[in-house]
Amino acid sequence: MSLTTIAVEQLTEQQAAEELARLAAEIAEHNRLYHTEDRPVISDADYDALKQRNLAIEERFPELKRPDSPTDQVGGAVLEKFEKVSHSVAMLSLDNAFSEEDVRDFADRVRRFLKLDADAPLAMTAEPKIDGLSLSLRYERGQLVTAATRGDGSVGEDVTANARTIRDIPQSLKGSAPDVIEVRGEVYLTKADFAVLNERQAAEGKQTYVNPRNTAAGSLRQLDTSITASRPLKFFAYAWGECSALPAATQMGVVECFAAWGFKVNPLMQRFETVDGLLEQYRLIESERAGLAYDIDGVVYKVDDLVLQARLGFISRSPRWAVAHKFPAETATTVLEEIEIQVGRTGALSPVARLEPVTVGGVVVSNATLHNEDYIAGIGSDGQPIREGRDLRVGDTVTIYRAGDVIPKVMDVDLSKRPADSVPYVFPETCPACGSPATREVNEKTGRADSVRRCTGGLICPAQAVEKLKHFVSRNAFDIDGFGAKQAEAFYHADLIKNPVDIFTLAARDEASELTKLKNREGWGEQSAANLFEAIEARRAVDLHRFIFALGIRHVGEGNAKILARTYRSAASFIAAMKEAQDPEGEAWSDLVNIDGIGPTVAHALVEFFGEPHNAAIVDELLTHVHPTDAEPVASDSVFAGKTIVFTGSLERMSRDEAKAMAERLGAKTAGSVSRKTDLVVAGPGAGSKRKKAAELEIEIIDEDEWFARLGQ
Ligand code: IVH
Repeated sequence: MSLTTIAVEQLTEQQAAEELARLAAEIAEHNRLYHTEDRPVISDADYDALKQRNLAIEERFPELKRPDSPTDQVGGAVLEKFEKVSHSVAMLSLDNAFSEEDVRDFADRVRRFLKLDADAPLAMTAEPKIDGLSLSLRYERGQLVTAATRGDGSVGEDVTANARTIRDIPQSLKGSAPDVIEVRGEVYLTKADFAVLNERQAAEGKQTYVNPRNTAAGSLRQLDTSITASRPLKFFAYAWGECSALPAATQMGVVECFAAWGFKVNPLMQRFETVDGLLEQYRLIESERAGLAYDIDGVVYKVDDLVLQARLGFISRSPRWAVAHKFPAETATTVLEEIEIQVGRTGALSPVARLEPVTVGGVVVSNATLHNEDYIAGIGSDGQPIREGRDLRVGDTVTIYRAGDVIPKVMDVDLSKRPADSVPYVFPETCPACGSPATREVNEKTGRADSVRRCTGGLICPAQAVEKLKHFVSRNAFDIDGFGAKQAEAFYHADLIKNPVDIFTLAARDEASELTKLKNREGWGEQSAANLFEAIEARRAVDLHRFIFALGIRHVGEGNAKILARTYRSAASFIAAMKEAQDPEGEAWSDLVNIDGIGPTVAHALVEFFGEPHNAAIVDELLTHVHPTDAEPVASDSVFAGKTIVFTGSLERMSRDEAKAMAERLGAKTAGSVSRKTDLVVAGPGAGSKRKKAAELEIEIIDEDEWFARLGQ
């Protein structure tokens, strides 16, 4: 007799538990069919009967009630959209190590930063890097209040309702936990559950999923939480964000607390005193990888002592106290069918391999990068042969590899399979988009031609212009709702928007009917045109770092844009400084190269960009349409906030890097040389010319002890 037909009063406890699990899944599936697919397969009465039976069993066995109980769900709670959640402590990413040498370098860097001797003890933990998506769970007085995705690291999406359906995530913490704690970890799907889900999709004639990670991400970010509930998502806790009082003094200790509070923590996590110990654990985890129930893509090492973690702090988006040792990438063999040249926003000609589709690590790959002309010819960036000098040709059988989310690469060629009539690939010397000569600049430092060939067409090259426009509206730049890469391309070719300024004059031109109105163009209507104008309007006020990033200056990625925004604070002072920095003897230039994190390469790229009159004109014009909001200083309540500080001489309690990082955390700027703009000089023993100059300029000079004293340490 099937369970379904047994009367509730006669169910044993075991049967009741099984029946509740089955009902949760079945009801979730009906919710999904009803709410998402508009395709209910049972009558409302039958649906109600299922919910009734579920409720009756829960009433008889209250302790068996599931966290994803259908009783607690309002139909399929369908949200309009996800609310945004600001992370009070940023969710960071990890730096990667790809070899044992990289791991040893990491440990050396940590020691140097902390001024530890080579033989001083330095314990670290090793644990698998789970291939899922990170989630931050905020508990207040032991109760789950918010669950948020990583998002861009600063702002994520509120997925609390979804997270509540995941069994591994406690609604309330066991034992005594701090008043406020954000437990962070990875949501994932097991390989087996992924396979079952995909079989079901295939059986129903639906699109199958790419891999467990993407599926886990898609399952969590469902506006209809009953879909999340129907997916067997799991969770490992391994990190934390805001915390009112740390429950332990070590990484390992905190993770043990997570387990005591009711979280799943990874059983392969261990603490080691030496790098050799870490590497041994890496090899062990790698050997068990295939047999693990879930996908992992490396091993994470973390400094165990939390005082040391705090001293180490962060560099741009990753902690200095942790590193991800990645497993070698997965490879496959296929045929290189064609080589296509794409022109990027800075004019770089990038060769892309079109491949006979092949599955690599569960993902179908049909394109891969070929890097540049030398790479195809078998020459590395140092001018030395790679692949023992073997070149790559159309028709070749090649090995490709991909690691995690990274774009697949063509790695090697099997010469025994090379067709007899194959010819070496000839890289174009003119731009495929505009026909201008494409040249290789000579690198001043090495005297060798740069490996990248660039279109010299500049402003006349349509490919560069389109890519610049796409970059301008991209997610980390202006991020205009309903205006993505596709629209950028279409607007450009329709002669509606040729450069960023045109975006902000579009509505006025449309109003004046200078061109066919947007609402009368193909693919547009009254509402969608109005929405777009509104979205553009909303972006006239934009964060300064987004504005800087959007300009698409070479070497100025999101991280550098943030550093620049934080340093110059306002668009006006940033642009004035870039114009002044054209003078290589001037103070603005030395200030620029001295910004921590901005090296000479970035500084030169900035100066070059603003030295081009057309760029400067576009930026000035753009600023008549958009008004970037001034950047906030980092920690405005510290005594050093907003000050420009120079460290000189030898420091005893911290390394120079640690000192600079600490100053920046406190909202100060650090500079390498003393000028009239310097507010404070921290001088250690042996300080020479900088100290003298500071004295001449009557700038305050303090020693290291005074520095700590002012911080109350
Ligand atoms: S620690 C402050 N530990 O990897 C650093 N991350 O590449 C916090 N990840 O965004 C991260 N397993 O989503 C940490 N055992 C682990 C991890 C792990 C997977 C993910 C996490 C993070 C990404 C960084």
